[in-house]
Amino acid sequence: METVHVNLGDRSYDVRIGPGLLAEAGAQIAPILNRKRVWIVTEARVAELHLTALQAALSAEGIESEALILPPGESTKSWKHLTETVEWLLAERVERKDVVIAFGGGVIGDLVGFAAAILRRGVRFVQMPTSLLAQVDSSVGGKTGINSPHGKNLIGAFHQPSLVLADIDVLGTLAPRDFRAGYGEVVKYGGLGSLDFFEWLEVKGPAMAAGDVALRTEAVRRSVQMKADIVERDETEQGDRALLNLGHTFGHALEAATGYSDRLLHGEGVAIGCALAYEVSARMGLMSQEAPSRFREHLAAMGMKRDLSDIAGDLPDADGLITLMGQDKKVEAGKIKFILARGIGEAFVCGTTDMDIVRAVLAEGLAAR
Ligand code: GLY
Repeated sequence: METVHVNLGDRSYDVRIGPGLLAEAGAQIAPILNRKRVWIVTEARVAELHLTALQAALSAEGIESEALILPPGESTKSWKHLTETVEWLLAERVERKDVVIAFGGGVIGDLVGFAAAILRRGVRFVQMPTSLLAQVDSSVGGKTGINSPHGKNLIGAFHQPSLVLADIDVLGTLAPRDFRAGYGEVVKYGGLGSLDFFEWLEVKGPAMAAGDVALRTEAVRRSVQMKADIVERDETEQGDRALLNLGHTFGHALEAATGYSDRLLHGEGVAIGCALAYEVSARMGLMSQEAPSRFREHLAAMGMKRDLSDIAGDLPDADGLITLMGQDKKVEAGKIKFILARGIGEAFVCGTTDMDIVRAVLAEGLAAR
């Protein structure tokens, strides 16, 4: 097992990563409990595959558990299911010193984390991420929230978990497309902060995707370590944390344009978004022309979507996509702040992006469809 410690003073916690952690969940969680009882919030698909194993692991340590099973899918990140979760926890008489377990992918982690943030002004929670995307990104760093018809993640709070348990074996039950979508967030870390990690992924990525558990553990550990380093510097995104949104401004607009449907999964939007951000960076003369091609070639080698032409169905025109970017949380005084890069692994927050270049890159990508 690998451990990444997220050092945030009295909100510090461990992210434990490795195979077999589900079976050890009771032993891992027991030391932080105030009483031997926990509340699990999960979704139907994860419950069917793994809930019995989790509850057995908790029972083995004498920990009682109750579970709330929500519907799967992005639409669960809503006021309706937030209310359902909070009211269930209150009906269960969950106390401030109790622990709630978020057991699922990014949707469950974000929703349950937000419920924990507002329940009795903050109860503790443990993240047990079951998707690659959640293991490398959303379970770490304390961003919690739900979606609004105005856009994704627009309602939320920072609330750090007390522990994160990322069982690498669980990734073996993901559909290949879901695994690859999560990989969009992994490759983002190389793209934003480490050429060395990107080069490691170029070499090891295919074997990792094929199922090598040691390589998966290492990819998750390196990603989480990079995220922890950034979150420790800037927990509430006053500056550097925005780097974690490389590819997200484009990606969120594409997700909105495709109705948050399975036409485009979040991680797929991030991967295409990173490629677009690199292309804009190259056209602005910030990075070499070769860097975007190298990035896209790696996405191709991993069987990932990488261009606007990989998205099926209609899309708005370039101005329509730019309008969708206007709801991004990085908009300041009406101006979109993009994450651009000076090379692979050298991202920065750019407040002066040339919107004519953004428009041209989008228009060319759309014309190639
Ligand atoms: N997913 C971006 C962040 O946690 O800041």
